[in-house]
Formats: sequence, structure tokens, C-alpha cells
Amino acid sequence: MMKKLFVADTPKMIGKVVELYGWVASKRDHKKVVFIDLRDRSGVVQVIGDEKLKELSQEDVVYVKGLIKERPKNLINSKLKTGTIEIEAQKVVILSKAKPLPIPIEGDGYQIDEEVRLKYRYLDLRRERLKNNLFFRYQFIKEIRHFMDAKGFIEIETPILTKATPEGARDFIVPSRLQKGKFYALPQSPQQYKQLLMLSGFEKYFQIARCFRDEDPRADRAYGEFTQLDVEKSFTSQEEIQGLIEELLVMVIKKVFPKKKFLKVPFPKISYQEALEKYQSDRPDIRQSQEDDVLAFCWVIDFPLFEWKEQEKRWDATHHPFTSPKKEDLPFLEKGEYEKIRADQYDLVLNGFEVGGGSIRITDPKLQAKIFEIMGHTKEQVEEKFGHLLEAFSYGVPPHGGIALGLDRLLQVILNEKSVREAIAFPASSGGKTSVMDAPSSVDEEQLRELGIERKKVKR
Ligand code: AMO
Repeated sequence: MMKKLFVADTPKMIGKVVELYGWVASKRDHKKVVFIDLRDRSGVVQVIGDEKLKELSQEDVVYVKGLIKERPKNLINSKLKTGTIEIEAQKVVILSKAKPLPIPIEGDGYQIDEEVRLKYRYLDLRRERLKNNLFFRYQFIKEIRHFMDAKGFIEIETPILTKATPEGARDFIVPSRLQKGKFYALPQSPQQYKQLLMLSGFEKYFQIARCFRDEDPRADRAYGEFTQLDVEKSFTSQEEIQGLIEELLVMVIKKVFPKKKFLKVPFPKISYQEALEKYQSDRPDIRQSQEDDVLAFCWVIDFPLFEWKEQEKRWDATHHPFTSPKKEDLPFLEKGEYEKIRADQYDLVLNGFEVGGGSIRITDPKLQAKIFEIMGHTKEQVEEKFGHLLEAFSYGVPPHGGIALGLDRLLQVILNEKSVREAIAFPASSGGKTSVMDAPSSVDEEQLRELGIERKKVKR
């Protein structure tokens, strides 16, 4: 058994006997003749036969050998890519029987309860809409890699079992077996590693990176994990990073989504202050009307470096603590007027969604330590949590900056989807349950014993 042909290729092969493999998408039994629609990942084709097709049920996996025949003009189905032909079945073999499916897979599926769709995600993904979303995602990422490569960036993987990098969310922690009582954290982003790679001298880095954040999910925020295009460059400027990302997005979107139009290129730059005044939002939707195929990108710049956390009564970094203050605002740092300091930070916004964020980084270890202190860390905590970075910065660090784009969210907006989960193959549900596998789940006592962990009853 070896599949050589996709059903989408059959119209080019009229008069040939071919072998096809796929699923029975539908069956119409007209007593003497039976029709099935045979589906594979490329589409569907009509197969016509006699009793050979009678025992098939919907979603059975089958082998079909048959003759490709041109349909008479009046029977052409213009809605189908293969609608000019049909296959006259000569041999049909059932490779796997299918029970009736728990969810329908025709149509867009939006009306089905999402928890049920995610439980049966492997069936949900048979749906044309989701299949297309994943094909687009694949092409999008493929073109990104192609572009970054052409610009001289190299992709480097960074660890998943690591120490927390603060990006403002809760960490996922993983207990260590070898050092009982200690924990790894899953990275909220590769931020510290990509900065260390600049220090190592790689100059131009990117990664299609998985990031882990334990924060409340929203329609545009995946729970648990999501994917970034993560970028870092040495000897650079805000303008250069923005220019690079603009060029990337225009090229990749034109290639993968040729029907989309850009509202404005180059993307307009709006200061944080202006965004709040004019749009009452730091992620402004700059479209005049909500036209579906228009992509309105803009940059929001000049963010404040710090924001005051009233509950915790402390200053926190607006973006993350590695973001550089603007040089001209450094005197405010000396004077303790922290609210006046602007950051060398830029967010990328698309149709009102924040799809990326980046900054020029701090490379002076003294300034970096000062920023941590302003955020309320003691000297000991700074040493414990970030000593490695401060030490690294003492061995010759190039000035550098970068950005990360949220690929799931970017695709959500481009694909006109209401939820970011529609752009991910196996997303966690909004309640934090993984698709299909039903994690988090309990573990054996033996596993806990090995980790030196004891269960305690917790009042809920
Ligand atoms: P930031 O935290 O702004 O920056 O993340 C970058 C982009 O990632 C997307 N994003 C998400 N997408 C889906 N689900 C989520 N839970 C989620 N959280 C974030 C957003 C966001 O703009 N290390 C820095 C980047 C840098 O400074 O270079 C960072 O991670 O689109």
C-alpha cells in the first residue's frame, strides 16, 4: 500500500485508472448506483459504483481503484474543485471502519460546544476550516524562516527547562528529581537566553519559540503555551527592528494571504500618549470601518518604563525589566521621578490586537541592577535571580534589541477568527484543560515519592 495521488490531482488524469486513499465524506445510495465523496487532505472527489460501495459508512478509511471519467456538461459540479470528473470504482477496500462521529465535521463548527470540540480535536481538525488554518499557519512560518534566513538571522533553540524569566505572568514550575525540593520554571519567553546569545556574538538570532505562561485565558490569549517569532539583533536601533518586521510581514502576508490589503505601509507610529488620547487604548484599531480584508498595522512607541502597582505598592516594568530607558529621560531616574521615564519600547498592533512587542535592552549592569531595585527586589534577590545576567554583562556585551511577535494571535486576526485557539492544532481549553489528553491529571504516588513531594489536603 502506497499513496501516490491526492484527490485534487484527479481532474488532470482523465481516462486513467488510479488508486486513491481517503475517508468516506458522504454516501448517497440510489439502489442501483451508489455515490460516495472520497476525502483526503487535498479535497473531495465523487466516486460512483454499485454494491461495492454499499457497505461503506461515513468516515470509513478506504482504498479505491477506479477510472477517471469526465462528467457530462449538465452534471458538472462547479462548487467542487474536482467537479468536472468522477471516479468509476473498480475495486474498493475498507481499511478501517468508523463509528458514527460524536461531533459533526461539516461546516464551520462554531455552534458546537468548544469543550466537546477540544475533547475530539482530532476529529474537529478534519473540518475544512481548521485544516485550512493549519495549512496557512505552516506556510506562514515557513515563509518567516525563509525571510529571516535571507536576512542573515540564524535560528537557535533555547531551553524549556530553565529558570523563570519575568514577563509579568505566573510561571509553570517543574519539580526536580535530582535536586529534591528545587524547581525548574518553563520560560515565559526566551528573553534572557536571546540576550545571552548576543553576548556570545551571534549578532542576529531568531526562533519560532514556545512560551509558557500561567495566566487567565481570553479570546486572544492562549492558556498555558503559545508560539512567538522571537528576534534579537546586536548593534541595532528601534527603527531597524521595526523596518525588518514591517518588511517581513508585508512579504509573508502578500505571499500566503494575497487577498489581504494593508491599510498603510510603512506602518504608522503612534506614541503611547497619543494612542490613549485619540483611541483610549494602547492598542488602537486605526481602521475607519471594519472591512474584513484590511490589515491595519501600527506601532505604539514611547511607553512609560514603569507602571505603579497600587495593590503591591511598588513600581513594575511596563514591558519587562530588561527594557532600556530612553537616554534623554535618564535624569528622571536620578531624581526618582520614575513615572516620567519613557522606554525604548515598541508594540506592534494589528486591527486593535497587540501582536508583538519589543525593545532596546539595558546592557549596563549597574543600570540593570538599579531597575531591579526600583521594582522592589533586594540586592540579595537580584543576585539570586539575575546574578548570572549581571555577571554576563561584565564580559563585553554588544548593544542590542529585539522583538517577539505572537504568531497564534497574528494568525487569529489575519484568519478572521474569534478565538486564538482556532489557529492552534491542539490548544488548551479556556478552563486550562489540554485538548484530547485531559491534563492536568493526577500522577502516581511513586512518581511523587521520587520527586520528594507529599500531597497535602487543600481546602477549596
Ligand atoms: P510579550 O510578552 O509582549 O513580549 O509577548 C510578545 C507577543 O506574544 C503574544 N502573546 C500571546 N499570544 C497568545 N497567547 C498568550 N498567552 C500570549 N501572551 C503574549 C502577544 C505579544 O505581543 N520577550 C518579550 C519580547 C521582546 O522584548 O523581545 C515578550 O515576550 O502578541
